[in-house]
Amino acid sequence: MINENQIEDTLKSLFENIEFNSEPAGLYDPLRYMIGIGGKRVRPRLCLMAYALFKDSFDERILEPAAALEVFHSFTLIHDDIMDNSDMRRGVPTVCRKWDDNTAIISGDVMSIDSYRRIAKAPAEVLPQVMDLFTATAAQVCEGQQYDMEFEKVKDVPMESYMKMIGLKTAVLIACSAKLGALIAGADARTCDLLYKFGYDLGLAFQITDDYLDTYGDSSIFGKKIGGDIINNKKTWLLIRALEKGEELEKSGVADPAHGKTALLRAMDMKAGNEAEKSAKIEKVKEIYEVLGIDEDVKYEIIRLHAQAMNYAGLLGLGKIRYEMLHRYADRLIGRNK
Ligand code: IPE
Ligand code: IPE
Ligand code: MG
Ligand code: MG
Ligand code: MG
Repeated sequence: MINENQIEDTLKSLFENIEFNSEPAGLYDPLRYMIGIGGKRVRPRLCLMAYALFKDSFDERILEPAAALEVFHSFTLIHDDIMDNSDMRRGVPTVCRKWDDNTAIISGDVMSIDSYRRIAKAPAEVLPQVMDLFTATAAQVCEGQQYDMEFEKVKDVPMESYMKMIGLKTAVLIACSAKLGALIAGADARTCDLLYKFGYDLGLAFQITDDYLDTYGDSSIFGKKIGGDIINNKKTWLLIRALEKGEELEKSGVADPAHGKTALLRAMDMKAGNEAEKSAKIEKVKEIYEVLGIDEDVKYEIIRLHAQAMNYAGLLGLGKIRYEMLHRYADRLIGRNK
């Protein structure tokens, strides 16, 4: 087995030494910018960890696919920032702001291609399965992103549809990361499947944590502007739960009319053109969340999904040391403030 320190060291050197073409600079500089700043590297870490459960050392056949997950993820973020009109990411200006939308589109495209080049370095014995999984996952992320955008325009989205949407845009890539590590390590089908499920539920908890931090985080730590989801009328877990609770309150007749569903819908309609309007809208929505107790509810939901993920980890039957390693990873993922 490979321990966590070895995983961290490997991850560090993997991204310090990663190579990309250099010309034209207008294409590759944004790519290097994104990968160089580095986010949390959640997906390659999970891939290496799943591999580490079964192996004693790393080699290129796992390192390149692990890198592919991060390059692919960073590509989705570059395009996501155009779609969400975001100014800041990983504590610095987004590619679409530092350069422009066209640069973000083409640099994102070449990253997507680069990720395929790297994933194809997986061992020949499992390559067809690896390619099938990665390709299916990549398409699902696009599907999730499309639902995410379509939901901005609808007033009310059922919680079930929201969970499906975040399953696609976020959870499948985390699930894929865990499964890939196991697959490349030669683990059996049941094990790969359980690690996928572990990653999926953890991915749901991870996205809901992201939703939480988008409203309640500290921008200087989180690395993104706070309140972007509220301004965009993004259907986050918080907003959907608040709409549900606001409706229940109004139906039960004890609603404080200032903080029911109607008030929330009105807040969502507030203009958010300039900075003053943006702040006013964020404050209004947050005030309603507070009265409805949404900040508490969301924490319970994250803990529930984390427990569900750990249940799958337990079913792996890998023994205490390995289970604890997955546990620490999962705790870190949801206990974060960045
Ligand atoms: C951001 O992903 C997008 C989501 C799926 C929530 P991360 O939170 O993993 O972003 P980085 O890679 O650490 O910047
Ligand atoms: C993005 O979700 C998920 C992707 C697959 C790119 P968000 O739009 O919530 O991600 P952030 O908050 O901008 O990182
Ligand atoms: Mg988005
Ligand atoms: Mg976004
Ligand atoms: Mg977000």
